[in-house]
Amino acid sequence: MNAEKLRQDFPILFQEVNDEPLIYLDNAATTQKPKQVLATLNHYYEMNNANVHRGVHTLAERATKDYEAAREKVRDFIHAKETAEVLFTRGTTTSLNWVAKSFGDAFVKAGDEIVISHMEHHSNIIPWQQLAQQKGAVLKYIRVTEDGFLDMEDAKKQITDQTAIVSIAHVSNVLGVINPIEELAALAHSHQAIMVVDGAQAVPHMPVDVQALDADFYAFSGHKMCGPTGIGVLYGKREWLEQMEPVEFGGEMIDFVHLQESTWKELPWKFEAGTPNIAGAIALGSAIDYLNEIGLENIHQHEAELVAYVLPKLQAIDGLTVYGPQAAESHTGVIAFNLDGLHPHDVATALDMEGVAVRAGHHCAQPLLNYLKVSSTARASFYLYNTIADADRLVEAILATKEFFKHGAI
Ligand SMILES: Cc1ncc(COP(=O)(O)O)c(C=O)c1O
Repeated sequence: MNAEKLRQDFPILFQEVNDEPLIYLDNAATTQKPKQVLATLNHYYEMNNANVHRGVHTLAERATKDYEAAREKVRDFIHAKETAEVLFTRGTTTSLNWVAKSFGDAFVKAGDEIVISHMEHHSNIIPWQQLAQQKGAVLKYIRVTEDGFLDMEDAKKQITDQTAIVSIAHVSNVLGVINPIEELAALAHSHQAIMVVDGAQAVPHMPVDVQALDADFYAFSGHKMCGPTGIGVLYGKREWLEQMEPVEFGGEMIDFVHLQESTWKELPWKFEAGTPNIAGAIALGSAIDYLNEIGLENIHQHEAELVAYVLPKLQAIDGLTVYGPQAAESHTGVIAFNLDGLHPHDVATALDMEGVAVRAGHHCAQPLLNYLKVSSTARASFYLYNTIADADRLVEAILATKEFFKHGAI
């Protein structure tokens, strides 16, 4: 794939920030949108805007057809068996909350164990804390090894016959490691537990097959994969979704409403109360078309090449610590780092002065940072439109930052 050519599709990248060309390296937080996705959003609002599943007029039929076509695109993209298993949500956070609430209500009881890991995003911690508190369940954590991998020996100890739910990130948003979900799912299933996957950092960057992984639930966000904000997906196996109650109630999700009770529509609509994010779903479908055209394998390979190029250069900078695995082949395009003696917010601010956008903070993973014994880090994260030149600019800007703080001037 040709990242230089793909860049042309992203109008936002062609601007100066602080008189320097923008180098956008905050893709783990959110990705930029190609003009194809922006055109889909515009086209929807200019030509087809109507509510779905309600009207018989032409615009309503078009909107409904495109909304459901987007669901089919998602199904195909993640290799789900049927569209009934694809629920549109606001994003990963909502998806994980729905599983904790709805599956938790139906199946979790006092004394059950919920097993997560020390490398989870807050979205994959707090819903389980809440569920554990409400049900009197026990929340357990799988260790992370010294070199930044999920400790599979510890996983075998933590997951027991008392375990009801195992919920793990497919890719860490700080350490940049890919976790062995297939192996974890097999382990969970051998103890009659379900496997929930936080796929926020995986689906945008590599091919994902929910059936091959044997995930019971799989959550991800549209905005991290060239789609708009406010739209995401919860995949769930039909056998579970059918036994679960909706989390929200109201219009769109009902079959019959009587004075004292109501019945629900069939899957997937029983979970989608109220007017959904129609434009968002259709634009997510367009983002999927865009990624499919490039090929997820190619995107994965491109990011691997960028990391193989930039990681040794970062590691060679005196006083710079990279968190997570040190070998490039074990690292996705997420690279968290610190510079000795400098606060990551100062580093990120100085990099911004050079036009380089990186994240600084706890990355919504405070337990992991406590575990790593740091309060915050800087984080550069790459995507399909980043180039070797972007990687070089990052390294140059870090060197300039070091000089600036040493001598008080760039
Ligand atoms: C691993 C991981 N999980 C969950 C989330 C939450 O995603 P969202 O804010 O789109 O719901 C993120 C976002 O940063 C993430 O990186």
